[in-house]
Amino acid sequence: MLGSIVLFGPPGAGKGTQAEIIVEMTGKPQVSTGDMLRSAVSQGTELGLEAKTYMESGQLVPDQVIIGLIEDRLNEPDASNGVLFDGFPRTIPQAEALAGITEVSGVISIEVPDEDIINRIVGRRMDSETGEIYHVSFKPPPPEVESRLVQRKDDNENTVRSRLDAYHEQTKPLGEWYDNMGILAIVDGTGSIQEVGQSVANAVRSL
Ligand code: AP5
Repeated sequence: MLGSIVLFGPPGAGKGTQAEIIVEMTGKPQVSTGDMLRSAVSQGTELGLEAKTYMESGQLVPDQVIIGLIEDRLNEPDASNGVLFDGFPRTIPQAEALAGITEVSGVISIEVPDEDIINRIVGRRMDSETGEIYHVSFKPPPPEVESRLVQRKDDNENTVRSRLDAYHEQTKPLGEWYDNMGILAIVDGTGSIQEVGQSVANAVRSL
């Protein structure tokens, strides 16, 4: 049986956008560490207070905090047949910890060059009610949701550059780590949302 799947890639590559297709195809729940941390920040929990400063400056939250969060999440009943990780793991220590907790069957890496990332992130808007992700140019929100749109605090050009630095230094080496294990599928993330979706679906079928 297919174990957990990891969606991998730089900030703004389209992981959240493409997660929906994988959830539909596999029935596995999406586990986004970014969403979990944002929820903790908005609830003002101890975890949220600790994570906030890192997130707003575009740095990674410490590994031990993230690993604890994932261990708790994987103990929930809906995770028993594996999950779709979105934004986790992001460092080798996180991937090593994950290997000790659950089986990873495949890693789908969405590749997008840095110059496209800035535009994608600065133009991103989210529906505060449904969580749907839009983009002012590439996926314009319908007029009826305009009043509910929010922009993430870390979606500004300065913070994106720090997030990209963190990606290149701490996260990108993980791609090679998973490639050496023979479970990495690379998807070109530069086409339209629909085109990338087709490639992601093909990658899932190949797992
Ligand atoms: P997180 O929330 O995980 O952010 P991220 O990795 O930076 O990824 P994003 O959510 O920004 O992008 P995405 O790839 O999901 O893109 P999307 O589909 O929205 O993490 C935030 C912070 O939390 C981190 O900086 C860190 O501090 C902390 N954190 C989280 N996990 C952590 C961990 N494991 N360890 C340590 N710290 C952690 O798309 C982006 C935009 O582009 C949208 O507007 C979309 O409409 C558009 N778009 C998507 N696809 C296309 C396309 N093909 N063409 C044109 N536009 C497109």
